[in-house]
Amino acid sequence: MHRGSFTVTGLGIALIVVAAASVMAGVTFATRATAETTSRTLTTPPSAAALEKVSGPIVVPGLDSAQVARGKVVYEENCAKCHGAQLEGQPNWRYPSLTTFKYPAPPHTDAGHTWQHADTELLDYIMNGAGGLSSEMVGFRGVLSGPDMAAALAFIKSNWTQGTREYQYRITLIHHIWGNTGH
Ligand code: HEC
Repeated sequence: MHRGSFTVTGLGIALIVVAAASVMAGVTFATRATAETTSRTLTTPPSAAALEKVSGPIVVPGLDSAQVARGKVVYEENCAKCHGAQLEGQPNWRYPSLTTFKYPAPPHTDAGHTWQHADTELLDYIMNGAGGLSSEMVGFRGVLSGPDMAAALAFIKSNWTQGTREYQYRITLIHHIWGNTGH
């Protein structure tokens, strides 16, 4: 009898420990997800003045209209199903899915964060994908030719406002001088 109640108490404690552990795991995950989201959302771009200091006055090179036209076709065939026909991204793209823990596809417009990356980083993404852990972004190496991947990027850029294009061009120049920008 005494033994029996001890076992029941022991089981009760075990259940409480398991429950507490699951709650803590949930909290840890939620905290990490929030931190990740926050760091993405609150990434502070260097000020225009700071960028100007490094890259000097610049003239953003114009886009090649034939390349942009080709990129539109490449984009519609390979990218639009995730990033959206209007480059608007998937719903709730800032937050990872609570079932797959992966990030939805972000917009490629000014509203997203594609423009925060240098050309080499973007081409690396398009060629090699995100590695499959954080998202479904697949690499297109072996699927698309180099010129087609570059064309898709040119098409994405053609949707940016002039200010965004200038910002991303400076980031590209700085990346060239300093290496990874950390964005
Ligand atoms: C199966 C869905 C899917 C397809 C198809 C897809 N993407 Fe993505 N893409 C994603 C997701 C999801 C992310 C976010 C990756 C992350 O944050 O880990 C992403 C991220 C990116 C990024 C990085 C953006 C940033 O700010 O970090 C670029 C650039 C990109 N995609 C370009 C393309 C291009 C170009 C194509 C077509 C050739 C394409 N993607 C096709 C899902 C997709």
